[in-house]
Amino acid sequence: MKAKKILAPSILSADFRNLSQQIRYVELGGADWIHCDIMDGKFVPNISFGPMIVSAVRRITNLFIDVHLMIKEPDNFLEDFAKAGANCISVHQEEVVHLHRTITKIHELNCKAGVVVNPATPLNTLENILEYVDLVLIMSVNPGFGGQTFIESTLKKIKQLKKIRSENKLDFLIEVDGGIDKKNIKSISNSGCDVFVAGSSIFNSDNISAATIELKNIIVAQD
Ligand code: DX5
Ligand code: ZN
Repeated sequence: MKAKKILAPSILSADFRNLSQQIRYVELGGADWIHCDIMDGKFVPNISFGPMIVSAVRRITNLFIDVHLMIKEPDNFLEDFAKAGANCISVHQEEVVHLHRTITKIHELNCKAGVVVNPATPLNTLENILEYVDLVLIMSVNPGFGGQTFIESTLKKIKQLKKIRSENKLDFLIEVDGGIDKKNIKSISNSGCDVFVAGSSIFNSDNISAATIELKNIIVAQD
């Protein structure tokens, strides 16, 4: 069954002076998920926010909360983010030694489980975990900052992952994160992306709701 296309604004680029209003704007624009980029300054060279902000997001919106852990030793924080209200928790393949155990733990916490690969990490590192995950997040920028340029070779990687998924009759969602905007989102969708993370192209625009609607219209036209 063809999965519907999902737009997941990343609040990393939101104006935190009024997070509630910023989330309302993307809701009005038809956002499906809220993507929370968690950074610890160790796994990535930046610090963002933690479970406290995720629980604030939970109290602001009923949208699906998609937590992307760009942190060292994410196992230590799974419960905190699940308790904070995460609906999906994704961990980096590069960081987790016992990935099957971590994915199992995320499911035991009643969350969907995702695995993330950086631009230079080959998909074959995921070969033995794909059947257990709900989502694979392909980074299209080097993690740590919003506002970066989409790495074009990601398109090939998305197509490769889509082929692996159909050959193995699996049904995880393919998510892409980083540098997505109205100019490249159509080709990203055509390559096989299901979930689109966009931060600066939405929250840095003059009209957040309009920017959200514009991206949403492009991807639903691909449905
Ligand atoms: C990088 C972050 C960003 C963010 C999206 O670590 O994960 O990719 O979500 O940011 P933009 O859309 O501004 O590239
Ligand atoms: Zn992210």
